[in-house]
Amino acid sequence: MNINRRTLIKATGAAAFFGHPLTQSWAAVQVDKLVLNAEPQQQLWLPDGDKTKIWGYSQNVIRLQQYQPVAITLHNKLEESTSVHWHGMRVDNAMDGVTGLTQEPVEPGESFVYRLTPNDAGTYWAHAHHNTYRQLALGLYTPVVVAEAKPYPVDQDLLFVADDWLLGRDRQIDTASFEDVHAWAHAGRMGNFLTVNRQNLPEFEVIAGQRIRLRVLNTANSRILNFEFPDVNVMLIAKDGQPLRNPVSLKGVLTLAPAERYDLVVDIPADMQGLLPIFERSGKQPYLAANWKITGRENIPTLPEVSPLPSNPLPQRDFKVTKKVRLNMEGGAMGRLQAAVYQGKKMSVDELIQNRQAWTFNGVANMPEQPLETLKPGDGVEIELVNDTRWAHAMHLHGHHFLALNDFTDDLIWQDTILVAPGETKTIRFVAESVGRWLLHCHMIEHQVSGMVTYLAVED
Ligand code: C2O
Ligand code: CU
Repeated sequence: MNINRRTLIKATGAAAFFGHPLTQSWAAVQVDKLVLNAEPQQQLWLPDGDKTKIWGYSQNVIRLQQYQPVAITLHNKLEESTSVHWHGMRVDNAMDGVTGLTQEPVEPGESFVYRLTPNDAGTYWAHAHHNTYRQLALGLYTPVVVAEAKPYPVDQDLLFVADDWLLGRDRQIDTASFEDVHAWAHAGRMGNFLTVNRQNLPEFEVIAGQRIRLRVLNTANSRILNFEFPDVNVMLIAKDGQPLRNPVSLKGVLTLAPAERYDLVVDIPADMQGLLPIFERSGKQPYLAANWKITGRENIPTLPEVSPLPSNPLPQRDFKVTKKVRLNMEGGAMGRLQAAVYQGKKMSVDELIQNRQAWTFNGVANMPEQPLETLKPGDGVEIELVNDTRWAHAMHLHGHHFLALNDFTDDLIWQDTILVAPGETKTIRFVAESVGRWLLHCHMIEHQVSGMVTYLAVED
């Protein structure tokens, strides 16, 4: 849905129609229904070549309305079992999609109904959470946009979903490297081909002088992406779906660890025409990721200041911390790890590697027998994420958003994924919300599968 600023200005008299819905009466009467097929797909990425065989969902984007309940039926049309996780959405634990923890895998030919009420507006994503290191690398994900009750005033609302694929010479996905434990113990399995919205070098058609909301997502398995937007003015308005209290202007590159999202307001200069590049700068050379294609000219003299998005129904920011937890990350190449527990057994590093494990949280590789901590709903929790490794990690907590500092602001901001640099400690704070078992893991998915995963138990 593209919201035109001028139409909106004219329509403000009708704002009551978009006003904050009376959640109760809505929920009682109406549940939206959606179908999501997990299926083999193909993309033509390079001229005069073969199509690349990937996996995907039948919806390019799932658009939901804040507070409007929805039942999404996953049909598994693949030849292996799968599941869907609603990354960043505060759903009931039974809908969280983590096989082995919150649900059984959905077998080939079978279906599963995910029932959600998206109470937070913003930019989220749905992705497989079963054999994730392979299924995500094959493309089993789609963005989720939860619309605010009242549209935010921009001329266009666009998605920028960035992914990093590893293709062979035959232009097919390099599946042999999926099990590459060497990559698992380093930075993860890196790709060699970047797509935006599953396209090679897309063009975003804009009009000079327009104001664009750009929803940027990093869906790569392990690559940290750095985007540069030359010649346009960029303001950050949300991270991981949650509005910033004060929009911040982007200085330099926009860094996104795997699974992170930013909502940007981009003002296209009124005096430009033609192609304007967007670069990705994680490699030695800048990589042309996409172009703005600027035509025409809007006759708007000056754009108003960028306003904050309306806040979501999150816990109060000044909650009391009653539980403090330390999470020590160890292992990986060039690390100091000597031994660790895996599946209840103490093992040497060699034995761990034989079991394809390279990383630990508090001395345990992969899912522990006991939760990291047992909490009650309402508990204020602080976790110190201590990165005692030579590698960066993108830590993600399911079912909650936490307050933490980020490099670009001195304000604590709500987020669901946070990058912790080698040797660094980051502190996250959150209120335990709904009952269930909530995963906490590194979203460099090769690190997750080789050890970096635990969970929190929230019990009444
Ligand atoms: Cu985006 Cu546990 O996942
Ligand atoms: Cu990691």
